[in-house]
Amino acid sequence: MSNIVIVGTQWGDEGKGKVVDLLAEKADHVVRFQGGNNAGHTMIVEGEQFISHLIPSGIIQKKVCYIGNGVVVDPTVLLEEIDTLSSRGIDLSPKMLRLSEKAHVIMPYHKSIDNARELKKGDKKIGTTGRGIGPCYEDKATRRGIRFCDFKEMDLFKEKVRSIMEEKNFYLEKFFGTDTLDTEAIIDEYVEIAKKLLPYITDTSVEVGDGIKKGDNVLFEGAQGTHLDIEHGTYPYVTSSSTVSGNACCGSGVGPKDIHGVVGIVKAYTTRVGEGPFVTELFDEIGTAIQKKGAEFGATTGRKRRCGWFDMVILRNSARLNGLTDLAITKLDVLDDLKEIKICTSYKYNGESIENFPASIKTLENCEPVYETMPGWEEDITGVRKFEDLPENAQKYLKRLEELSETRISIVSVGPDREETMVLNDLM
Ligand code: GDP
Ligand code: IMO
Ligand code: MG
Repeated sequence: MSNIVIVGTQWGDEGKGKVVDLLAEKADHVVRFQGGNNAGHTMIVEGEQFISHLIPSGIIQKKVCYIGNGVVVDPTVLLEEIDTLSSRGIDLSPKMLRLSEKAHVIMPYHKSIDNARELKKGDKKIGTTGRGIGPCYEDKATRRGIRFCDFKEMDLFKEKVRSIMEEKNFYLEKFFGTDTLDTEAIIDEYVEIAKKLLPYITDTSVEVGDGIKKGDNVLFEGAQGTHLDIEHGTYPYVTSSSTVSGNACCGSGVGPKDIHGVVGIVKAYTTRVGEGPFVTELFDEIGTAIQKKGAEFGATTGRKRRCGWFDMVILRNSARLNGLTDLAITKLDVLDDLKEIKICTSYKYNGESIENFPASIKTLENCEPVYETMPGWEEDITGVRKFEDLPENAQKYLKRLEELSETRISIVSVGPDREETMVLNDLM
């Protein structure tokens, strides 16, 4: 039995979907434990691309997938995703996909508020995905949320929606000056949605727990990245859930003794979508070249991702916050053409050296990266399948990352396809 948590170490889009799909071969169950359809996870298998926002990336490997209690779920998006993936021959019957009765439901007003709030903030906006994630977690915390178990008690559901919408419509109209929503139309829509989703709704904690008792292998799939974490990220430029490994337990209803490893997914450089500080961001032609070669466009919103050099201050922070046991380095091939490659090893702030990631946004915005420069390899590595066959400078780059982060590299990805991967240590 081996239960592994997969987390993003940077600002999301590190290639979690690809690694989860790869490792899912040996898993019996795959569980999403936080976030919602702000995530976009891409898997490519034999040239065929699959993108999922809510359904765990283990589904392509035909593993039982769970949407845990810590996830916020837009049911219309979930139904669409079930249809899209089913039409491509993937089994998404309730036998294969289980939805926590405790997960919170993203309602239309959450999306309206998310977008209205961003608009009102103008240039101070967070750059959210506009999917209603923050407002849904907000209602969870203030104990006014709708949960999937409410779909089993429709009279109660209707009562809750009528009561909460009075307040939401007041807020939309009076504070944001935007259109109000039709409560009864929403109720009618959700009655139909509930009928379709009922067979999937269950106590996922019990089901995953039963699997663990039997000695099954479980993969816990994180969304976003450590520096988008609500506690530890670049607050307020973060998402609204805890993205670190500790939340795999809370967000799926398992205890910490059942976790055996934590794999941090690390892009061989850094990217970020949306607003917020980014110390190693590149504004020159190298940044543009990385953006182009890495096809750095968001899988959810299509926005261009900001690109920069590798930031070891961030990875060290992630290693500690998540208790990383292994690293999976992705997109190494994107650096193929570069003459020189830089690693930021510390920051300089007001003439002083900073080794640990600061909490203050103002400090971060004024930090300068201190770089170590390494020679590039300037050759195509997408066909390489063994570490020893990588160009010497690529091996040196990886060894340096390992050394500076004090964490072993167990997976190296050199292309988007499942096959374009080297597994250096077996994890499950
Ligand atoms: P996630 O959100 O962490 O699952 O990552 P995304 O799927 O949003 O973004 C990662 C992107 O990089 C996707 O388009 C992947 O297909 C792609 N990708 C993953 N690994 C590699 C790699 O090693 N090389 C290249 N060139 N692309 C990769
Ligand atoms: P995956 O799982 C990258 C970012 C948004 C925005 C901030 C808050 O694909 O790695 P939200 O809609 O969550 O309130 O937006 O978080 N963000 C992501 N960035 N990858 C993601 O997910 C993200 N999910 C949210 O761009 O800056
Ligand atoms: Mg993504």
